[in-house]
Amino acid sequence: MQILGIDIGGSGIKGAIVDTNTGEMLTERFRLETPKPATPVQVAQTVKKLIEHFQWEGQVGCGFPAVIQHGIVRTASNIDKSWIGVNAKELFKEHAGNDFQIVNDADAAGLAEMNFGAGKDQLGVVVTVTVGTGIGSAVFTDGVLLPNSEFGHIIVKDQVGEKYASDATRKREDLKWDKWGKRFNEYLQRLEFLLWPDMIILGGGASKKFDKYETELNTKAIVKPALLQNNAGIIGAACAWRKHHPLGFRPPKV
Ligand code: BGC
Repeated sequence: MQILGIDIGGSGIKGAIVDTNTGEMLTERFRLETPKPATPVQVAQTVKKLIEHFQWEGQVGCGFPAVIQHGIVRTASNIDKSWIGVNAKELFKEHAGNDFQIVNDADAAGLAEMNFGAGKDQLGVVVTVTVGTGIGSAVFTDGVLLPNSEFGHIIVKDQVGEKYASDATRKREDLKWDKWGKRFNEYLQRLEFLLWPDMIILGGGASKKFDKYETELNTKAIVKPALLQNNAGIIGAACAWRKHHPLGFRPPKV
């Protein structure tokens, strides 16, 4: 199945056409700047432009950095507050004309890693943690996704986890990798205390530098860096259309 996968992020909106059976990107990825302010209509217009770039008339899978229930945006930690309550699935269809599946961005990245990356064929409890501006999580048990887990918001050292240990915090506070690694380890240990995963897969910008802080990590779970890195969000968003994922993911029925 060929699907246009789109990853909506704080600074860029990226897309590519994906073969959802193999996880292969069939085109170059194309990126547009996220509009400022990133209000629903402005973002919908940018999504439309991206679709026009690919001259794509088929189905579109979209990863979005918030809780998404049946196409409706429920939270706005790192996005414009006016998104709360918006039916993104309908809004994007009104603007672009295509049919959409919308999923949380970290769930999308997790789906890509479980299907084609570091979590392929991995049974048991796997948590993928996407570290960027915020921290996103995706929880899988025997390959089945529990959507919208939002473990970036657990409390670590009296702070919201993603404020304490995100990649944006590392940059903002100019933390050395070992110092940040210690913080991130505290975050992972808290996550482990709550979920007891067998494996943790790290995605997002920080996963590319895994060797710089790997030695600071001390969890019972095996920790692995993501394999698909930058493209996981696009590939996984396209996978949201897969009706019968071999390990069980199905898009929610409305
Ligand atoms: C949001 C999540 C999102 C994560 C990564 C968090 O602030 O609450 O929904 O997955 O950032 O973008």
